[in-house]
Amino acid sequence: MKQTLLITGGAGFIGSHLVRLFVNKYPEYHIVNLDLLTYAGNLANLKDIEDKSNYTFIKGDIVDANFINNLFDQYQFDGVIHLAAESHVDRSIEDPAAFIKTNVLGTMNLLNAAKFNWSDFSGKRFYHISTDEVYGTLGETGFFTEETAYDPRSPYSASKASSDHLVRAFYHTYNLPIVISNCSNNYGPYQFPEKLLPLFINNIKHNKPLPVYGDGKYTRDWLWVGDHAAAIDLIYAKGRVGETYNIGGNNEWKNIDLINKLCEVMDELLDREAGTSKKLITYVKDRAGHDRRYAIDASKLMNELGWKPTVFAEEGLRKTAEWYLENEEWLESVTSGAYQDYYAAMYAERS
Ligand code: NAD
Ligand code: TYD
Repeated sequence: MKQTLLITGGAGFIGSHLVRLFVNKYPEYHIVNLDLLTYAGNLANLKDIEDKSNYTFIKGDIVDANFINNLFDQYQFDGVIHLAAESHVDRSIEDPAAFIKTNVLGTMNLLNAAKFNWSDFSGKRFYHISTDEVYGTLGETGFFTEETAYDPRSPYSASKASSDHLVRAFYHTYNLPIVISNCSNNYGPYQFPEKLLPLFINNIKHNKPLPVYGDGKYTRDWLWVGDHAAAIDLIYAKGRVGETYNIGGNNEWKNIDLINKLCEVMDELLDREAGTSKKLITYVKDRAGHDRRYAIDASKLMNELGWKPTVFAEEGLRKTAEWYLENEEWLESVTSGAYQDYYAAMYAERS
């Protein structure tokens, strides 16, 4: 095997797309997927590659430093792509401590293990997958660049900003060969249905209300998850050590416009009378500290490494809606049990 690569959080939404890409594209790599399988991690996301000979799944917690050190000792990783995290802003507002534990302490444990285990840093790489939310919020115009000052405003983004800073500190202090990317909102198959699009698709299917926070005029820059995985592949292979790359789809939507378009697509796919799904839209209490607008300038990644997004706007929305409707079993399995209680409590509180 040419190299042994640790991917953390590979059973989650983005991680599962990345693991699949690497296992299929690089048969000469041994891909080790480390994931705790929290509510957001699901091995059903990787059914199609679980028997491949270059793939190993390990269940474990990045917060457990001894476990992580032993894992590095056992596998002698050549590289790390670190995605494992608590990832939902609403949950971070309810329970910030869980985000600090996983996102900050967990990242530090991985950095420490890499630093101690890698006697020679040459050819090694520690890649941290992060979010554009570390930059805070934008007004009506402008974009986040790699030079934008950090201004995290939710416990989630504060925890990701902290982990980014730690990763950079390990580069400056110990010369650990790191790279970071900060990406906008992803969408596509296998996203846990607490995030906007899969939640609303599932609710429309079951004729449940669509809880639009505040005035609905918040803006996000949506990126097809496969385009994110392709960017990570490029940055892992060719990104310059110590650098940060912003990743975004140049695909801005105000929430309410995206939701209206989704409703139209869903009426069509479910063969319902036009306008049926829109009747489910329910304006609810706003999210605390809700960031108004995110938008990414990805020109560094495009110019330096030749990346570009391939899926846009309505096409991506349609592909996403179709996938969730076609994968009913997956949707039912992840929305049973604890999810039901959590969602019922959230909605009761907001409505
Ligand atoms: P996700 O919540 O779908 O998946 C996270 C995965 O991490 C899950 O499989 C979970 O089981 C695992 N995990 C959680 N705690 C763990 C722990 N203590 N030890 C080991 N594994 C643990 O998240 P996602 O949306 O796929 O995001 C992946 C990464 O990308 C995160 O770091 C997130 O901050 C970042 N990101 C996400 C987006 C987005 O739009 N979803 C955008 C930019 C960046
Ligand atoms: P989300 O998918 O949680 O991603 P993030 O908060 O990381 O951007 O939310 C996307 C946008 O949709 C955000 O502006 C909050 C809004 N939103 C709602 O209006 N209702 C909902 O039920 C959810 C989950 C999100």
